[in-house]
Amino acid sequence: MASFSMNNNSVKIHGTGIAKPTRLLVVSDAHLSLDDERGIPNQENSRRMAAAYPQAFANFTQMLSERKTDAYDYLLMLGDMVSFPSAKGVETIMELAEKTGLPYAYTAGNHDWHFEGLPGTEIKLRREWTAKRLAPLYQGRNPLCYSIELNGLNLVMMDTSACEILPEQQAFWRRQVEKGLPTIVFGHIPFWVPGRDVGFSVGHPDWNASTDGNWKIEQRLRWPESGHNQTTMDFHKEVFGADNLLGIVAGHIHGQSVDFYRGKFQVVVQYGVTGGFLEMTID
Ligand SMILES: [Fe+2]
Repeated sequence: MASFSMNNNSVKIHGTGIAKPTRLLVVSDAHLSLDDERGIPNQENSRRMAAAYPQAFANFTQMLSERKTDAYDYLLMLGDMVSFPSAKGVETIMELAEKTGLPYAYTAGNHDWHFEGLPGTEIKLRREWTAKRLAPLYQGRNPLCYSIELNGLNLVMMDTSACEILPEQQAFWRRQVEKGLPTIVFGHIPFWVPGRDVGFSVGHPDWNASTDGNWKIEQRLRWPESGHNQTTMDFHKEVFGADNLLGIVAGHIHGQSVDFYRGKFQVVVQYGVTGGFLEMTID
C-alpha cells in the first residue's frame, strides 16, 4: 500500500514498488487567448473567452521558465491550455512544451475545442476541432485515451472534457486495469467524490440540465435532462474500484484541492492562469 503526502503543490507517493523514482510536472488551465488573422472567421465565437484571462500568458510562461526541467521526467498538460482553439494558441502551447525539453502528454479541456455558439454536441465539436487544431499536441496518440508507461508506472491520459465517457474509453480503461501496474489517471474534468459539486462532473449523480448553470453563457448545449449515460456512471465506479489505481489528477476547477475516496486520491491542480502547477514524485 503506497502512502500519499502533500506539501503545498508538491505530492509524494511512496511505496509503489516502481523501478525508480519518477517526477512529474503537471500543468492545467493556462487559458492562453492568443490569436492572429487565422482566427478572424471565428472572432464572434472567441470574443468572450479571449477577454477572460489577460494575465494568463505572462504568468504561465514565467512559471514554466522558473522550473528546473531536469528535476522532472515528464510534463503533463491537463487541458484548457487555450481558451478557444486558435491556431496561434495551439502553436504557442506546442512551442512552450517543446522548450522545456521534457517529453510531454496532453489531454483536452472543455475550452480547448470550443468556439462558443457553434452548433453541435460537445462530442461532435471535440472531434471536429481536435482534428482541425489540437491534433499536433497528441503526437500521434489517440486523443480520447492513451497511456504512458514510465519506470513501471502507468500514466493514463483520459479525455473527460465533455463530462461524459465513451464506450471506447471504458474499454481502454479495462485494458489498463489488466496491466496490473500502479496507475494514475489524468483528465481535465475531475470525478465526482461525494460532497463535491457538479464541477466534479464525471459520474456525478446530480449532473443534469437542472444543475447546468453555464450553458447559456458558454453558448453550448445544455446537459441532458436525464443526467449521465450509463457508461459514464459505470466508468466512475470501475475507476475508483480498480485495485491498481493510485489516484486521479485533474484541472478545470481553477483551485487546488485534494479528495480521498475508496482509498484513492484525487488532486485538482491550481490553474496556470495564476502560474499554478503541481509536482509529483512517485517512488
Ligand atoms: Fe475546464
